[in-house]
Amino acid sequence: MKIVKTVKEVREQVAEWRKQGLTVGLVPTMGYLHEGHASLIDRSVSENDRTVVSDFVNPMQFGPTEDLQTYPRDLAHDAALVEVHGGDLIFHPEPEEMYHEGFSSFVDMSVLTEELCGLSRPVHFRGVCTVVTKLFNIVQPDAAYFGKKDAQQLTIVRHMVDDLNMNLRIVGCPIVREDDGLAKSSRNTYLSAEERQAALVLSKAIALGSSLIKTGEVNAAVITGQMTELIKAEPLAKIDYVKLVDAATMQPIAVFDRPALCAVAVYIGKTRLIDNFFTEDVVPEV
Ligand code: PAJ
Repeated sequence: MKIVKTVKEVREQVAEWRKQGLTVGLVPTMGYLHEGHASLIDRSVSENDRTVVSDFVNPMQFGPTEDLQTYPRDLAHDAALVEVHGGDLIFHPEPEEMYHEGFSSFVDMSVLTEELCGLSRPVHFRGVCTVVTKLFNIVQPDAAYFGKKDAQQLTIVRHMVDDLNMNLRIVGCPIVREDDGLAKSSRNTYLSAEERQAALVLSKAIALGSSLIKTGEVNAAVITGQMTELIKAEPLAKIDYVKLVDAATMQPIAVFDRPALCAVAVYIGKTRLIDNFFTEDVVPEV
């Protein structure tokens, strides 16, 4: 397993693999890797001859008041995890390597970015689409692996790849959770012991929403209303959103009559956490 910091080194390594006729998978991350990231690496390793993990806290996807400075970083830990899971290369660029002086090209998207996290994080998805496009261009993988944990991001990336005729497969992977249900996240490290306990309202609300869908409830207001009540009962929680949206367009729906995404974003103290389920993972057909 190798760690490289420049685009040139990645290109040289991938070119060598291509010469040998090997397939390449890419797992884009911001580092501080946990079992959620590991599941994407495992999937890529099982489907490709070589796996590249990018490890880059992308400044462009953070808003001015967000946690860019404090976002946790630990390259030694990440390297050990990638090695154990059979990854072959970590791309760990400095911000200047990705965004040289005078950088001024962006990949932006309408509609899908307007709801959910796009509402509370206005510059976020432009930053994600731009960096993901750059990573696709740098690595030119056969497939790239994304978690359903960031369901809107996954949907946006799939749409971007389709819109812009990017030549790779996007693979969506299930959410990996702690034993008590909390979705694994690099940001869980911000939580105090008390907040960690309070954070369980997210997965409890998700479990409630999916059980309502399973038992045939189709009224979005009923589903999100009951989830909202559950979250509001936790004093440390402050809701950003609780929504049922069309899985393709990310636009809110009043009635569950098509594949949908049920998603929540909740502040636990100062930490913003997200969780969700796609209805297709709960009920096979609508
Ligand atoms: P990051 O938050 O590090 O996540 C990297 C990938 O790991 C994403 O596809 C995310 O959905 C996935 N992931 C995180 N937690 C997960 C969990 N509990 N279960 C399954 N998958 C999980 O998402 C980003 O970085 C960035 O926006 C990035 C795409 C790298 C662009 O900068």
